[in-house]
Amino acid sequence: MQIVNHSIPGKKSEKEITFSFNDKFLKAREGQTVAAALMANGIKKFGISRKLQQPRGLFCANGRCCSCFLTVNGLNHVLGCITLVEEGMKVSSNDADPDVRRKANGD
Ligand code: FES
Repeated sequence: MQIVNHSIPGKKSEKEITFSFNDKFLKAREGQTVAAALMANGIKKFGISRKLQQPRGLFCANGRCCSCFLTVNGLNHVLGCITLVEEGMKVSSNDADPDVRRKANGD
């Protein structure tokens, strides 16, 4: 469910844009956050926690908890809940700390 006409921010844009998540192309509405766009596409798992290796996703939805870390256009640890999705944006799940990934990949 999405609110398209809210009494305070007003009517949301109907313009559709395309972005990718883990190399899969998805649709979003202009003005949505990356997290909202992923949730609207049925994606709730944004990555895996560093220590306990548990699924991470939207939690506070206001930039406070870091549960929504994503990799956006090659930049690690981007907060998906406060970052607006853009046309052609490449988003990938943040499955581990970059240092852990580098060691695992032998980089
Ligand atoms: S969900 Fe908490 S910072 Fe994004």
